Amino acid sequence: MQPVRVGLLGMGTVGGGTIRVLKRNAEEISRRAGRGIVVTQAAARDLKKQRIVDTAGISLTTDPFAVVNNPDIDVVVELIGGDTIARELVTKAIANGKHVVTANKALIAKHGNEIFAQAQAKGVMVAFEAAVAGGIPIIKAIREGLAGNRIEWLAGIINGTSNFILTEMRDKGREFSDVLTEAQALGYAEADPTFDVEGIDAAHKLTILAAIAFGIPLQFTKAYTEGITNLTSEDVSYAEQLGYRIKSLGIARRAANGIELRVHPTLVPARRLIANVDGVMNAVLVKGDAVGPTLYYGPGAGAEPTASAVVADLVDVVRMMTADPENRVPHLAFQPDALSDIPILPMAQVKTAYYLRLRAQDRPGVLADVTRILGDLKISIEAIVQKGTADGVATIILLTHRVLEQNMDDALERIKKLPTISGEIMRIRMEALNAN
Ligand code: NDP
Ligand code: HSE
Repeated sequence: MQPVRVGLLGMGTVGGGTIRVLKRNAEEISRRAGRGIVVTQAAARDLKKQRIVDTAGISLTTDPFAVVNNPDIDVVVELIGGDTIARELVTKAIANGKHVVTANKALIAKHGNEIFAQAQAKGVMVAFEAAVAGGIPIIKAIREGLAGNRIEWLAGIINGTSNFILTEMRDKGREFSDVLTEAQALGYAEADPTFDVEGIDAAHKLTILAAIAFGIPLQFTKAYTEGITNLTSEDVSYAEQLGYRIKSLGIARRAANGIELRVHPTLVPARRLIANVDGVMNAVLVKGDAVGPTLYYGPGAGAEPTASAVVADLVDVVRMMTADPENRVPHLAFQPDALSDIPILPMAQVKTAYYLRLRAQDRPGVLADVTRILGDLKISIEAIVQKGTADGVATIILLTHRVLEQNMDDALERIKKLPTISGEIMRIRMEALNAN
């Protein structure tokens, strides 16, 4: 049988890795897919640029539309990124009746609903395993492996760049900007690295995970997003002293009145496996009602780990090419006409525990004022640590039990107004991530 002909859009970190893996493992891949899979045409901006792979035998072009319009291409692999030209290319490829594989989480999180509807109408597949958590097959795990479960919550380290930065800063005391530059050189970071460090990339991925976990449409604009740029080494150190690690987590939870969808730095008990996921590694904890808590771990970024997921999608597409479109695995795990309209909760209605750091004058009654305000708003305290300083100002660290975010917002407003409190109050959310 003829090999499946792939048209590749983008030959950068992931595109280069994909060509390399397809070439190196060609025989193994063909034995799995039942047919060979060969990149016959590829597009990039600059054809003179040095590539991480030998592109001999591939027809190269600077016009990506030539690839999606090429009648000899069976499957288009989109590895350009962003949601402008990539969106046009994917839409055109679908209109031309081609199956699509993409690693583009921004595109899927923002425009996936319409892209999947177009694909459904044309009877083609759009596969996106590489879009979330790099090489970890988390889409397949949730969409297929956990299909018997009612998913209760999931929480993940789903941005390799920010986890790499936090780890290097904590373990080696390195500067933020220095580690970010290294992450860029290693090919981990997005074209715009603020997406990584401001939690936007993680919010794209979380949006996708929540959709396939809960059977809801993709709703990126409703995700709460907070990055790692305001974290201080002081807070990292206090968290460690109290038995916690600070991780940038994406959390999606089914609550009684809606779905929580949030990305933010989070204190996690240091004994949890996920608290010990370091460097560019990602991990996703998924709690299903039948299976209980499950953990998926692996490299979250980089050329070949991401190519691993891209190629797995290609194998899936090849296996499913002859299947009746009605009987294929639905793009968002649930049948398109069975998606739920359960709302995404505003942050004020989210329940979580907190780490608070504040500076207060070191004299009698000050702590009592603070705890009275917390008590009035039904915020129960788990621990208090006070560190005296020479200038008569003390640092107070408070850990609270779970409370509605609105109550914490109100409490902080009132505490800030106390004449004995100076400067900003640092608030970091805290999650137990236990089996409940
Ligand atoms: P790169 O920047 O390394 O590669 C992008 C490629 O797209 C380059 O080859 C570039 O060409 C090409 N390109 C850009 N614009 C055009 C255009 N107008 N026409 C033709 N080609 C174009 O990005 P990555 O490989 O890192 O990322 C690709 C996608 O994969 C993104 O969606 C990203 O979010 C996602 N992803 C990345 C991961 C990673 O670890 N890097 C992991 C998981 C997903 P040229 O080389 O000539 O400039
Ligand atoms: N920039 C992303 C990250 C790439 O660092 O996780 C993988 O999606």
